[in-house]
Parts: sequence; C-alpha cells; structure tokens
Amino acid sequence: MRIDVVFGGASLTTAEVAGRVVAVIDVLRASTSIAVALANGARAVIPVETPDEVVMRAKALARNDVLLAGERKMMPIPGFDLGNSPIEFTPAMVDGKTILLTTTNGTPAIAGTGGARDVIIASYVNYTAVLTMLRAALRGGADITLVCAGRDRQFALEDAGCAGRFVANVSKRLVGITMNDAAQTCAMVDRRYGDQIVKLFEASEHGRALRDAGFDADLMACAAIDSHPVIPLYQDRQITKLGPDRER
Ligand code: MLT
Repeated sequence: MRIDVVFGGASLTTAEVAGRVVAVIDVLRASTSIAVALANGARAVIPVETPDEVVMRAKALARNDVLLAGERKMMPIPGFDLGNSPIEFTPAMVDGKTILLTTTNGTPAIAGTGGARDVIIASYVNYTAVLTMLRAALRGGADITLVCAGRDRQFALEDAGCAGRFVANVSKRLVGITMNDAAQTCAMVDRRYGDQIVKLFEASEHGRALRDAGFDADLMACAAIDSHPVIPLYQDRQITKLGPDRER
C-alpha cells in the first residue's frame, strides 16, 4: 500500500487519485470551515468554482434553504451570507442549510479529485475521525493520496504540517507501506511543530496573511484538534457528513 502527498490541488492528475482514498487538506481555512459547517448541522456543502456560479446555482434552490459562502483574497464576497471563517458557520446560521462555497484553493482542489474511490475533507478540527477512516482504508489494501490545496498552486507549510501528522500516524504498526518524498517531508514538518499548531500557522505565509488581515481568531479555531469530529465525504459533487443517517 502507498501513501502519497501532492501539493497544489488545482493541478491534480487523474493518475494521482484514480481508485484511491483521497483526503483533501486546506486547513486555512476551507477544509476547517467545511468540517465545522457539517458538524454544526449543515445539510450539505457544495464546492463551486466561481462567485457568479454560486449566485446562479442559488437561484435554483429555495432561498431559505441555501447559504452563499466564500472568499477571495481571504475576504468575504460582497452580497454573500458568509465568508470562509469557520467561526461564522454556527449552528444558528447553518443548521439544515445547503451551503454553496467558493474559495481560492480549497474548492478547486476538491473539484479536481475525479476518479478517486473516496474523497474526504481533512483538517485538524476533524483529525482523529479522518485518521480512523484512512487507517481502515490502508488496512483494507487501499492506496492513499493526501492532496494539499496549498496557496496559488504552491507549497503551503500549514497543509504540509497537517498532512505530515496523518502520514506519521496512519501507518503506525502497519507493514509494507511505501510513501513518496513529499509524504516524508511533511512528516518532518509535523515533527518540527508537533502540537504547536498556532506556531506552525504563524510560520506560514497564509497564516501571517490571515493574521495581518485581522483573522487572528481563525488561526485558533483552525488549530483546535478534534473540536469537530466529523467525516465530510465528497460524492456526487456535494459534501455531506458520513454517519448513520447517510449510508455510503
Ligand atoms: C482557500 O481555499 O484558498 C482558503 O481556504 C482561503 C482562505 O480561507 O483564506
């Protein structure tokens, strides 16, 4: 079995995900916001490419059932109900709603996973729930690809740290696991920062940019390990929570 990490989700090749269990990681902030929204009762999150497409798709749904969400250059999109701050996705705001979400790196990375066997959305806030599913997949003989959304198709330190934590723990006590150099490098980043996740964010370009733009509280929210233990599964172009009321 293999564990591979790829960066720059938007330029994924089919070969990198075909028939595999894929976890998409965009800890600052798309993956985190998706996990928080589903944990707080959202019916589904639909990743959409552009703000215009969000507006168009919203017209096809009852206005009371849908929320328009997303960011460009980290800032909320004018006229939308929500930005991309996980703190905004409260139970009062999202319970029972369908969320149309567009972000710069996270949603394109999710949309680029066509051909995968299963696609799950991973972050620190739902870390152990996702780890359990990835370990079961490995034990079942599946290969895994961790897709780091990155920043403008570039390597992002925060996504590498999170991917490294999965790499370090998913293969524990399992034999015959091989991994690519990117996976080994991510494990080194995780060893470097360990549980000091806010420190990892502060060392990253995007973390500093969010801080400078006034999203301090988001860094804390995105670093809260296992605060929202859900498994968001992307299937049929929408993300819903894996659980008893949703059979796979
Ligand atoms: C992204 O998808 O690029 C990020 O989630 C953007 C952000 O929330 O700052």
